[in-house]
Amino acid sequence: MAVGIFDSGLGGLTVLQAAEARLPELPFVYLADSAHAPYGVRTADDIFDLTCAAVTRLFEAGCNLVILACNTASAAALRRMQESWVPSDKRVLGVFVPLIEALTERQWGDNSPPREVNVKHVALFATPATVASRAFQRELAFRAIGVDVEAQACGGVVDAIEDGDMILAEALVRSHVEALQRKMPEPDAAILGCTHYPLMQSSFQAALGEEVRVFSQAALVADSLADYLDRHPDMLGTGERCFLTTGDPRRVSDRATQFLRRQIVFQSA
Ligand code: DGL
Repeated sequence: MAVGIFDSGLGGLTVLQAAEARLPELPFVYLADSAHAPYGVRTADDIFDLTCAAVTRLFEAGCNLVILACNTASAAALRRMQESWVPSDKRVLGVFVPLIEALTERQWGDNSPPREVNVKHVALFATPATVASRAFQRELAFRAIGVDVEAQACGGVVDAIEDGDMILAEALVRSHVEALQRKMPEPDAAILGCTHYPLMQSSFQAALGEEVRVFSQAALVADSLADYLDRHPDMLGTGERCFLTTGDPRRVSDRATQFLRRQIVFQSA
């Protein structure tokens, strides 16, 4: 049995790590589409095709349930996949909804009408494709009223992280936070709307200031996965734990080992 976790690259490891901590007995098959990362600068059609190909590979590896640990794929492709592509005996879930439920103080599946919430000014940091999709604002509008969202497309950050250039990634984070603050000087919450960004969480927090509450997805997604599996134990597949990449396995293994501070060995997808 195994659950699939997909990302364009290494960002989904932040979700994997939290999911492993939350569900220590459960094996995961992780797939990084490193050959095609970053997704954030691609068109929605392109992201849809790449995500379907990657999820097909995870189905082949014995996963019946796949988590898109990638906001860009969740924002640009998930709805279309669920409506027209996912086979009836499989499930594909995204990372957006658990985050928005946390931000709007809702329990899972609370479908009551939108209402006023504590946060009023929210800064969203995400890839250009996620920002362009407006998926975050759409999901938020189903649940909350009176929330002002300012989105900052953080070009370059994913590439820098994938290249292991953390000095560049940090400089880019600072400049994106400054750009956001010019549009919204005092956000009360910030969303790290890309699974790569928790790898830079302390840089975001330092640039934003301690008073800004920073939401990141990993633990929220892990909790919601545990909850989902409680209700759908039949969705555990037959696969075995492994790490797959469409890129160079040695290079991807080195970076993953650096980020998770434990040895991770990828193999060719
Ligand atoms: N981790 C992906 C996300 O959450 C990165 C997207 C990309 O490849 O640009 O959006």
